Amino acid sequence: MVIKQATTSDLDAFYELFTEIMHEGYAGYTPSLINHFLTKDYNKTNFFLWLERFFRNIYIAIESEKVIGFIVGDYTYGGVAFISWLGVKEEFRKKGVGLSLYSVYEDFAKTKKAHLIELYTYPKVEPFYLKLGFKRVGVREQGYFGQKNYIMNKKLGEWDESALSS
Ligand SMILES: CC(C)(COP(=O)(O)OP(=O)(O)OC[C@H]1O[C@@H](n2cnc3c(N)ncnc32)[C@H](O)[C@@H]1OP(=O)(O)O)[C@@H](O)C(=O)NCCC(=O)NCCS
Repeated sequence: MVIKQATTSDLDAFYELFTEIMHEGYAGYTPSLINHFLTKDYNKTNFFLWLERFFRNIYIAIESEKVIGFIVGDYTYGGVAFISWLGVKEEFRKKGVGLSLYSVYEDFAKTKKAHLIELYTYPKVEPFYLKLGFKRVGVREQGYFGQKNYIMNKKLGEWDESALSS
């Protein structure tokens, strides 16, 4: 398996897996919410623009020339790196792919001098993030899109004002 930073030329292969994992019912989202994400907030055009303008960073895991996993995060803001999406193709789960994708993003966050990584997740997935070293710092009973959100952080270091120029 190889992990690489996606560019706009990887968009189709990334988006094919993103769509597949969304249709599985990512995090318990309803079919209408998934349809909303795929046609509006997270459609392919938006991902193209985010990649092209370096608004979001995507790493993809590749096995036998196929994309089998992805992680989507930002480029850090105020020393905090935010992860928005992580997915591994079903038949490749529990083999360390999610952990490897996360590790590459964490390394990237360190190059940006981030002191914290943040995400929100769902009760079913929390054990995975606990294994990666995250701590739950809060709960929203009705958070984004009405879901129960577990807000999780992983501390990488101390806030460093010189990070502003990274
Ligand atoms: C969550 C997900 C990304 C994990 O990817 P993965 O490749 O299966 O994870 P890994 O194999 O790297 O697992 C790392 C560790 O976490 C554990 N783990 C993975 N998924 C877990 C889960 N759902 N519950 C508890 N532990 C889990 C693994 O057993 C492994 O532990 P070990 O090192 O002690 O064996 C994957 O299950 C997935 O794509 N799910 C659907 C989409 C999703 O829910 N994304 C996250 C939403 S916030």
